[in-house]
Amino acid sequence: MTILVTGAAGFIGSNFVMNWLDKIDENIVSLDMLTYAGNLENLSSLSNDSRHFFIKGDISDSELISSILNKYKPRAIINFAAESHVDRSISTPENFIQTNILGTFRILQNTLIYWESLGKIDKKNFRFVQISTDEVYGDLEVESEKFTEDNKYLPNSPYSASKAASDHLVRAWHHTYKLPVITTNCSNNYGPFQFPEKLIPLCIINAISNKPIPIYGDGKQTRDWLYVKDHCEAIRAVLENGLVGDTYNIGGDSEKTNIEVVELICKLLDSVQPRTDEVTYLKQISFVKDRPGHDRRYAIDSSKIQKELSWKPKETLASGMKKTIKWYLDNDEWIKNVVSGDYKKWIDKHYS
Ligand code: NAD
Ligand code: DAU
Repeated sequence: MTILVTGAAGFIGSNFVMNWLDKIDENIVSLDMLTYAGNLENLSSLSNDSRHFFIKGDISDSELISSILNKYKPRAIINFAAESHVDRSISTPENFIQTNILGTFRILQNTLIYWESLGKIDKKNFRFVQISTDEVYGDLEVESEKFTEDNKYLPNSPYSASKAASDHLVRAWHHTYKLPVITTNCSNNYGPFQFPEKLIPLCIINAISNKPIPIYGDGKQTRDWLYVKDHCEAIRAVLENGLVGDTYNIGGDSEKTNIEVVELICKLLDSVQPRTDEVTYLKQISFVKDRPGHDRRYAIDSSKIQKELSWKPKETLASGMKKTIKWYLDNDEWIKNVVSGDYKKWIDKHYS
């Protein structure tokens, strides 16, 4: 049997593929358009794994999607492919509309045609899992209860609006055509292989490169951090035992302000790799102009998935952050390639 994973060369997708092949003996077809955020080096540990097939391509390409589905006959699709960075969605929103909305529509429509062609048992067992975000629920008041699956969608950024639109399409394809879908809404992930435009890898890399660590506004915005491996395990639980048509919130139960997160990173770095002048990394923190429309708080109530699917996060923010910092310190070649864009040359050579 086979599953299809889209966005598989990105941060969470690549962690999911590696985690899957580590735990489960089932083939994976990885599809990724290899935008600036997609990096084949993330999957290089699988280059000799005969259970893994990589295809460079766009979820909006109907002909390609249809041919992949008919050739590999997956029993499930996990849709990670998306433009994912809020700041980029503010400066260049069009790609977000293209991939997150049109791309999701195209992959859904081709999945529907494929699903309708399956025999009775395969049709019953098939799943389309949409990987979404807590940002679709909008900004949470300090005093408010955490987001549950019943919260209204109130997206505020071009990114979250495009993800909300894609989730609505997924819901409609279930309601109207009975396509067996499940949607997950997850909080902020961190861990190995995260592209250094996001807060945590940016902070680690800037700290060890002796550059300023930028904190937007007053740094008091709150996010609920989840170690990426815990997210991967939650998605596996949802795929295997989640209810068709349902949605599941996934979170780390680890709400912290941005300044608390950055201070934690600086202090951990002070102990594992102190600066040569022995001045604390905290000195590199620099408050900068705020992100327009910056949501103050997100926090996930994940009691539903904990109760119904017996999932819970294994890492605390402190234990996950230690692992993450160690990974970035041990992988300076990966950092150099990502930052310099060298891996793009490699991709052009191998996948022109
Ligand atoms: P990422 O930006 O690291 O990876 C996205 C991947 O999708 C990249 O490899 C990119 O090349 C690929 N891609 C983009 N457009 C494509 C297209 N049209 N066709 C095929 N591939 C395409 O993002 P991530 O952080 O790994 O997030 C993955 C998913 O999880 C996204 O849907 C995101 O909305 C969601 N999510 C992320 C977080 C987080 O904290 N990172 C939290 C909750 C949900
Ligand atoms: O909540 C889930 C979302 O988390 C995902 O859906 C998105 O794909 C993912 O990118 C992430 O979005 P955020 O905007 O929360 O992540 P980011 O790492 O960009 O920012 C985290 C917080 O840190 C946010 O409040 C903005 C702030 N920030 C970010 C950067 C890059 C800074 O203060 N300075 C920075 O330089």
